[in-house]
Amino acid sequence: MSNESLANLMTETRRFAPPAEVAADANITAAAYEAAATDRLGFWAEQARRLSWATPPTETLDWSNPPFAKWFADGRLNVSYNCVDRHVEAGHGDRVAIHFEGEPGDSRSLTYAELQRDVSRAAHALTELGVKAGDRVAIYMPMIPETVIAMLACARVGAPHSVVFGAFSADALATRIEDADARVVITADGGYRRGAPSALKPAVDEALTRPGAANVRSVLVVRRTGQDIPWTEGRDVWWHELTERQPSEHTPEAFEAEHPLFILYTSGTTGKPKGILHTSGGYLTQVSFTHHAVFDLKPETDVFWCTADVGWVTGHSYIVYGPLSNGATEVLYEGTPNTPHNGRWWEIVQKYGVTLLYTAPTAIRTCMKWGDDIPAKFNLTSLRVLGSVGEPINPEAWIWYRKHIGGDRTPVVDTWWQTETGGVMISPLPGVTEAKPGAAQVPLPGISATVVDDNGTEVPNGSGGYLTVTEPWPSMLRTIWGDDQRFLDTYWSRFEGKYFAGDGAKKDADGDIWLLGRVDDVMLVSGHNISTTEVESALVSHPKIAEAAVVGATDPQTTQSICAFVILRGGAAEEEGLIDELRAHVAKELGPIAKPKRILPVDELPKTRSGKIMRRLLRDVAENRQLGDVTTLTDSAVMDLIQAKLPTAA
Ligand code: WT7
Repeated sequence: MSNESLANLMTETRRFAPPAEVAADANITAAAYEAAATDRLGFWAEQARRLSWATPPTETLDWSNPPFAKWFADGRLNVSYNCVDRHVEAGHGDRVAIHFEGEPGDSRSLTYAELQRDVSRAAHALTELGVKAGDRVAIYMPMIPETVIAMLACARVGAPHSVVFGAFSADALATRIEDADARVVITADGGYRRGAPSALKPAVDEALTRPGAANVRSVLVVRRTGQDIPWTEGRDVWWHELTERQPSEHTPEAFEAEHPLFILYTSGTTGKPKGILHTSGGYLTQVSFTHHAVFDLKPETDVFWCTADVGWVTGHSYIVYGPLSNGATEVLYEGTPNTPHNGRWWEIVQKYGVTLLYTAPTAIRTCMKWGDDIPAKFNLTSLRVLGSVGEPINPEAWIWYRKHIGGDRTPVVDTWWQTETGGVMISPLPGVTEAKPGAAQVPLPGISATVVDDNGTEVPNGSGGYLTVTEPWPSMLRTIWGDDQRFLDTYWSRFEGKYFAGDGAKKDADGDIWLLGRVDDVMLVSGHNISTTEVESALVSHPKIAEAAVVGATDPQTTQSICAFVILRGGAAEEEGLIDELRAHVAKELGPIAKPKRILPVDELPKTRSGKIMRRLLRDVAENRQLGDVTTLTDSAVMDLIQAKLPTAA
């Protein structure tokens, strides 16, 4: 983030006190901060009692082998029971769990009793396919109720799921199936996307041709679109055929609190995606507590809607495990915000009377661009708390969100967290915090996080540095799947005894935290973290490309856009259509979200003497800035050559 925008953030002086009616009836008051500060572990032990345990834990945290944490280790529970059955047993079987809204306009509502029946059948189905506790199941699905049911069924039988975002390519899916050594894949024929059926099953078929996916024995296929799909007898099974003949009751088995719940892959700076491992008791405790606290959820009256895809951690924690463990009623929407019209989201808020909305800054900025008149056509008065997640929200987007969606009355909570943290870590509380537009502000009760300098020393108010978490937390990642060393190197080696989040941050004069984006080379495109290295390897895997350097250039719409500098093989001349071919190649390798917006063929790349590409200089070029310091380059004339190549006023 440039210094000017940083300065803008820090001079933001608007303040928004919690509305009196929210403050008066809030689930959490300022007393929670004091309670947690006095007895942090006691506070979390108390939050764990939100859950139903088959064996209640007597231990809270085992930190005898840092940074490998064990939370509530002697407790046993079933996560699916906590998200489904216990609400039915408490007399809420008729409460709607999920209002599903399909993109073509079909809709259906599933009560907790119906969810219990469907999850039970799916659990029996997995058992019939030979899935045992500990086996990994890959899920590659559109945003439909069966996706949630599949995840809960996996949790019920103790099989960790690995959900792979439905827009990822066959290659990305294959890599993730191989890394987790998944035995079963759950998918659908397709889903609806931008007004048309979009196939998923063929990508699974392609992924399963790779040698690394050889251990997959069954593919369970949900029929969503009814489109024609290839079929492999003996391996492929229709979801409806298998589940319909299963018993509708299933006794959940209790697992240890540290039993793996899921693996979720996230891009890193170095090539291979990291399989982030989350376990059961601590994870569920924190996502349940944070959903209750940050959104002030009242399960009897609220209608919650998180617009994220279930393929991201936001969907795991705030579509599946947080809301359902709290017995919430929520909306699940399959499609895009502008199908068939730019007001689709607001129409959904009106239709279901959504009270709590959780979305991302990139979506808010897109809606701003479409115009204030679009949301103004709908009745949004049901809304009472708005949430934001995924990247820093610029104050103007924050203000627009509050004004045009929240009717200038609703609190906006800017929630900072990561795939690795599992649940929200830093956020205002809607009934407590005087909000500052653009700041996540305060660690939640029970969370210890601060900003440190290069030496790991906490910075004084008014200064910037690196965001770190200084004490273990219940929903922390337990490791990187199959790679403890990488877990240590990535998160725990930069600052002794502290978790390094990889984000820049600043404390303002009041000590409130403002997030400033990634400090490493991960690009943030429309809320998705994409590693420069992954895009570079995709480019270099094309036969005509010798070398590639990728940078994220600031982009008003998508936060960053991908800009690639490539050297053609054997000094080949640039042919007609090559750029399009390269972009299509990256889309195939990594998925369309990773497609570079600009690709510039160059003769040389700027490198340091140790051979490291100086992305900083390329970013200057991509953002049309004067070049920074070029003295560490092997050959500073390289930059002149690159600039001479640029289309004028690019
Ligand atoms: C990275 C984590 C957490 C779910 C979605 C992304 C950025 C996330 C905020 C926020 C500033 C934020 C950080 C973080 N980020 N929320 N409120 N303010 N930055 O999960 O893909 O694991 O990405 O997203 O850079 O490290 P993720």
